[in-house]
Amino acid sequence: MSEALRVGIAGLGTVGASVARVLSDKAAELTRQCGRTIVVAGVSARDKSRDRGVDVSGAQWFDDPIELAKWDGIDVFVELIGGDEGAARSSVKAALEAGHHVVTANKALLAKHGLELAGLAEKKGVLLNYEAAVAGGIPIIKTMREAMAGNTVTRVFGILNGTCNYILTRMEAEGISFEECLKDAQRLGYAEADPTFDIEGQDTAHKLAILTSLAFGSKIAADDIYLEGISNITQADIRAASELGYRIKLLGVAVRTETGIEQRVHPTMVPTASVIAQVHGVTNAVAVETDILGELLLSGPGAGGNATASAVVGDVADIAKSRPGFQHGPVFGRPVKELSPYKKARMRSHAGGYFIRLTVHDRIGVFAAIAKRMADSDISLESIVQHSDGTDTAAQKTVILVTHETTEAAVRKAVDGITKDGHLVDKPQVIRIERAA
Ligand code: HSE
Repeated sequence: MSEALRVGIAGLGTVGASVARVLSDKAAELTRQCGRTIVVAGVSARDKSRDRGVDVSGAQWFDDPIELAKWDGIDVFVELIGGDEGAARSSVKAALEAGHHVVTANKALLAKHGLELAGLAEKKGVLLNYEAAVAGGIPIIKTMREAMAGNTVTRVFGILNGTCNYILTRMEAEGISFEECLKDAQRLGYAEADPTFDIEGQDTAHKLAILTSLAFGSKIAADDIYLEGISNITQADIRAASELGYRIKLLGVAVRTETGIEQRVHPTMVPTASVIAQVHGVTNAVAVETDILGELLLSGPGAGGNATASAVVGDVADIAKSRPGFQHGPVFGRPVKELSPYKKARMRSHAGGYFIRLTVHDRIGVFAAIAKRMADSDISLESIVQHSDGTDTAAQKTVILVTHETTEAAVRKAVDGITKDGHLVDKPQVIRIERAA
């Protein structure tokens, strides 16, 4: 049997402790699968004395993750610290520089510095695996990087944040407040250290940026993502969506268009009957559309210690099985020099259907004024209804519009016009509708 693979784990929070536990509990099975043992040789975390429910006393302790990253007692450095700068970035760089393979669950780091790190991994001839960085336990990276060679991807989209999906699911099912759901997600260990990263869409955007690169063979462009979170979604939207045959999901979507690549993260109406609308709670789902394969949808647990540990351990096992000359392909599916420059499609050109919810003063001519603004913007309406769900009063009413396919520019022009007309009591709510099978 080959020599043991020696792993150093930096970060022993929910995920790090789960990884250490799985590597210990499944040691015999992993040895059979990989043909060698995997041992946790070193660990690093902030607090040595904390009880994490897993025994890591056999591993050498490092107060400084960078020292662990450089240590010649490891073959693989597992970065579970988090954050796109600081100790996470420095330690991953140090590990690659030292010629160690790296496994990370850090989507923010890859979204921001992925190209630099991939280049370094290529230069050093080591692996940089990051299955856990996107959609938790779902093996979407392996699928896109290895199993879909030869496919031309036209669209990739998905529910990439367990916290948001958990919140939206419970808001719909139980009619409870956003805040209450968020608290529970934090208690259950789904949310990021700063939950605004979840609810304002940044976490989804980081994951989408990685998927976009894999999908289109383009350089990562995390700063070119249109971003809207879910904090503005109300019970009124959820109820109206349900009555119209839609469900609201926070989606990350990347589409190849005639003018470039569209990357966007926003609350989205998907048909209630679609498969992605059935994805509830902390579950994630990623759909990929290609010329050869058609549409593929993978769903599974997207957050939490065990789901993330499953992906991290899979990445470590891949390294244990790899042999020089038989390693897996480049980090983003093709060598860094083969990644094309990212060409951004303007959000104003986005084409699709829209849901628009307006709270208006109840007076004669309001419907007519709204309809005129829509017509002036060449928007064809699928429906316009005065909608009453019990929140309307004698003085104000809710009007819901659903458009046929139009453009973002047309909708913005129409909504600006309606706002200027002075009929609105409240800010208009605009939610994009996404085609989904
Ligand atoms: N906070 C993330 C989520 C965890 O809720 O999906 C995994 O990135």
